[in-house]
Amino acid sequence: MSEKRTSIHGQWTSRTVFILAATGSAVGLGNIWKFPYITGENGGGTFVLVYLLCIAFIGLPIMMAEIMLGRRGKQSPINTMIALAKDEHRNPNWKWLGWMGVIAGFLILSYYSVIAGWATSYIFRTGGGMFVGVTADGANRIFTDLVSDPERLLAWHTIFMVMTMIIVSRGVKNGLEKAVTLLMPLLFGLLVLLVIYATTTGYFMDGIRFLFTPGTIDGKGILIAMGHAFFTLSLGMGAIMVYGSYLSEDYSIAQAAIWIALADTVVALLAGMAIFPIVFANGLEPGAGPGLIFQTLPIAFGHMEGGTLVGVLFFTLLLFAAWTSAISLIEPAVAYLVENRGVSRIHAAVWVGAATWTMGLGTVFSFNIWQDKTISIPFLFENLTFFDTLDYLTANIMLPLGGLFIAIFAAWVMREESAKEELATYPKMYSVWRFLVRYITPVAVIVVFLKAVGAI
Ligand code: PFF
Repeated sequence: MSEKRTSIHGQWTSRTVFILAATGSAVGLGNIWKFPYITGENGGGTFVLVYLLCIAFIGLPIMMAEIMLGRRGKQSPINTMIALAKDEHRNPNWKWLGWMGVIAGFLILSYYSVIAGWATSYIFRTGGGMFVGVTADGANRIFTDLVSDPERLLAWHTIFMVMTMIIVSRGVKNGLEKAVTLLMPLLFGLLVLLVIYATTTGYFMDGIRFLFTPGTIDGKGILIAMGHAFFTLSLGMGAIMVYGSYLSEDYSIAQAAIWIALADTVVALLAGMAIFPIVFANGLEPGAGPGLIFQTLPIAFGHMEGGTLVGVLFFTLLLFAAWTSAISLIEPAVAYLVENRGVSRIHAAVWVGAATWTMGLGTVFSFNIWQDKTISIPFLFENLTFFDTLDYLTANIMLPLGGLFIAIFAAWVMREESAKEELATYPKMYSVWRFLVRYITPVAVIVVFLKAVGAI
């Protein structure tokens, strides 16, 4: 057994706090903004089914592996991988897995912040009564006005990045605990309210049918569904690993992982059930793209009793959900700088934040002045904007690749005694995990990759 380590960054005060923080990381724009629009773009039912299967057979085992590696290594993902590779007498090059995660987190946050900026601006738009009695065309115009103005997008992106840097520099635990305990249940409650509203549109069953009736899907669609399972659970880049490093020894990892995955999935499905009935009731296009929730939910707020208040609350909660995810996107890099460069958290957060902000300019411009500039990568994708390219590369390539290597490390590289020490609280569950993470998960990820590029 390796010597007992302690994290220099502190420890969660209880298992509940860990679950809340990890759920805060998992539940974010991915559930409420991204899940509905990619489901719409990829035809509904089958996409949702593949996504759910990926959560169960790929996401859950990898989440347990990530928490386990983090808790054993007790450092930023890069240093954790170095330490664990050393414990197991393996090649120190496993550190590159940590590096890939840091880069993925940086790229994701650069666009995540711009979208979170949209949500922030919608708090004020809704509060100002802009959507009262709005039509589908009106909501569409208001959205287009926003994204076609780089200056406004830049301002909101800046505000969101500064907010994230402030929280990160104060340490992940301070404030997060309270924010998540209070706000997560509220967000959940509001989503339920929106689903209830959706039942009054007369198109509820159309929405449900769209979400749950299987149809067809191609290799690319399967890759996007799998990529989203990683994205929505915050897996494959060290975010959950770094949170695991603040977790003490005596908690069951399996139970925590199940709770997190369940909460995350329920939120995404509720968002879908709220949005698609509104889409169909207003003759909107399910495949409208990244603007989908911003073009549909305001219609609901504009027509329901007390909609202005509900709308303001909703976008505020969405902002908080985005915030608690953004923190975890940047934490692996910040923890690494603190460990290796001996800088304070504030310095580390400012440096990483400034770099991420700069990268975010590309996403700001992809919705206006660079709208027509596209990128193609043979076998992978054609004509995507800068924003779409970042999203595709991170969610569909980097995170699954990171997850694949995490599974390989946990199941094939680490000695079985080491994994058992961390996970064997429930022997039956442990055996299932071991089987999945050794055989099913890695093979599934590889098969999906090969299918997407047309190799099988
Ligand atoms: N899981 C977050 C969401 O669904 O919005 C996004 C995210 C956070 C992805 C942290 C990856 C990550 F490491």
